[in-house]
Amino acid sequence: MARIQAVRGMNDILPADTPAWRYLEDTSKQLFAQYGLEEIRTPIVESTDLFKRSIGEVTDIVEKEMYTFEDRNGDSLTLRPEGTASVVRACEEHGLLYNQTQRLFYTGPMFRHERPQKGRYRQFHQIGVECFGFNGPDVDAELIVMTYRLWQRLGLADQVRLQINSLGTAACRDTFRSALLEFLRPLKDQLDEDSQRRLDTNPLRILDSKNPHTQSLLADAPRFEDFLSEESKAHFDSLCRTLDAQAVPYEINPRLVRGLDYYCLTVFEWVTDALGAQGTVCAGGRYDGLVEQLGGKACPAVGFAMGIERLILLLQSLNLLPETVGNNVDIYIVAAGAGTEGYALEVAEALRAASPSIRVRLHHGGGSFKSQLKKADKSGAVHALIIGEGELADRRVTLKSLRSDAAQETLAFEALPGKLNGLI
Ligand code: HAM
Repeated sequence: MARIQAVRGMNDILPADTPAWRYLEDTSKQLFAQYGLEEIRTPIVESTDLFKRSIGEVTDIVEKEMYTFEDRNGDSLTLRPEGTASVVRACEEHGLLYNQTQRLFYTGPMFRHERPQKGRYRQFHQIGVECFGFNGPDVDAELIVMTYRLWQRLGLADQVRLQINSLGTAACRDTFRSALLEFLRPLKDQLDEDSQRRLDTNPLRILDSKNPHTQSLLADAPRFEDFLSEESKAHFDSLCRTLDAQAVPYEINPRLVRGLDYYCLTVFEWVTDALGAQGTVCAGGRYDGLVEQLGGKACPAVGFAMGIERLILLLQSLNLLPETVGNNVDIYIVAAGAGTEGYALEVAEALRAASPSIRVRLHHGGGSFKSQLKKADKSGAVHALIIGEGELADRRVTLKSLRSDAAQETLAFEALPGKLNGLI
C-alpha cells in the first residue's frame, strides 16, 4: 500500500530541529517578559467571517489562500491564516479592552494555501505581539526597539534591515486612493493582470506589485507621503526620532503597503537578503480601526508577527545557533552485568530527584559496555555513568567524561549528586 505522506507545504519539525525552535521561542518569551507582555492563546479555527472582515475581502489571503471548510453543522470555518484577527476577537469577547490596555504575545501555527518554496509554507508558525489601547507613536517605537533587541540577542542585527512607512489615517488613504486611481486608470491596459483587477477593488495594493513593468509605470505615481495629514506626519516623525535616539537603523520605504487591509499609520517590515525571495522575517504595524470594524468600541492597536521558519533558516544558514542548542543529554547511564539494570534505574531516579534541570538518559536494550558507550557518545552527553557488577556490589558508580581526557573516577552513590552539581 502506498505510504501516506504529510500534506504539501506542511512540515514535520523533527527532533534535530526542535532545539532551535525552543531556543528561538524561549529567547523571544524571555525578552517579551522584560517588556511586560502577557501571553494569549486562541483557537486555530475561527469563523470564516472573522478573517474576511479583518484581513479584507480583496487580499491574496482571503481571495486565494484560506483553508476554509464547512463543519458538520454547516458553519463556515477557516484555519487561521494569521493571529491578529483572532486576538482582537478574543479580547473583545472577554472584555479585555473595556477600560483597559493590553500588551499580548502569542505563538503557533498559521495556514495559508500559498505555493510552497524555501521560507514559504502552507502551515507555518508565527510569534506575534499585539498591544491595545495606546495611540502611539511611543508604543510603535518600543515594539520596533524590542524586535531590534531580539535580533541583537540572536546575533542577527547585521543580517536584517528595517523598512518603515506610514499609511496615514483612513481619511488620508481615501484621498490618496482617488489620486492614485486618477493616475492609473489611463494606464489600465498596461498593468499586469492582478493589478488590473485591483484597480477597482484595492488599488493601493498595486503599489506592492512584483511585476517589473507595473513597477516602472508607478515611477511617476502620486506619492503617499504627499497625502499624509499633519497628524499622521507628526506620528511618523516622532516614530523616526525615537528610532534615531535609540540608534535603530531604518529605511523609509514609501512603497511599503502590506498585504492585509487593516493597517493605518505605522507599518514596518524587517527583511533579510540571506533567504532569497522570502526575505521578510517580521512584519506589522498599527491597526487603529480593526477593533471597531469587528464590532467593538474604537480602540487603537499595534503589533507585529515574525515567521519562525524563516528565522530558524536564517540562524541555521549563518551558523548562529549557540553550541548548547541541540544538546539534550547531560548524563548517559550505561549498565552491564547481572542485576545492574535495577541499580542503574535507581541511580538515574536519584539524580533526577536531586536536580530538576539535570537531563539523564538511561541506556535500554542491553549490549556490551563498548556498544553502550558508543551510544552515550552519540547522544551528545557530557558524561557517562558506568555501572557494572563491581559498582553494584558496593553501591558505587564510575563517572567518565565523554568530552575531555579527564581520568574516570569511581565514587559512592550518595556522593554523586554533589559531584555532578559542580560539573553540570
Ligand atoms: P504577515 O506579513 O502576513 O503579517 O506575516 C508576518 C510574517 O509571517 C511574515 O513576515 C513572514 O515572516 C511570516 N509568514 C507569512 N506567511 C508565511 C508563509 N506562507 N510561510 C512562512 N512564513 C510566513 C501578519 O500575519 C500580521 N498578522 C502581522 C501583525 C500582527 N500585524 C499587526 N499585528
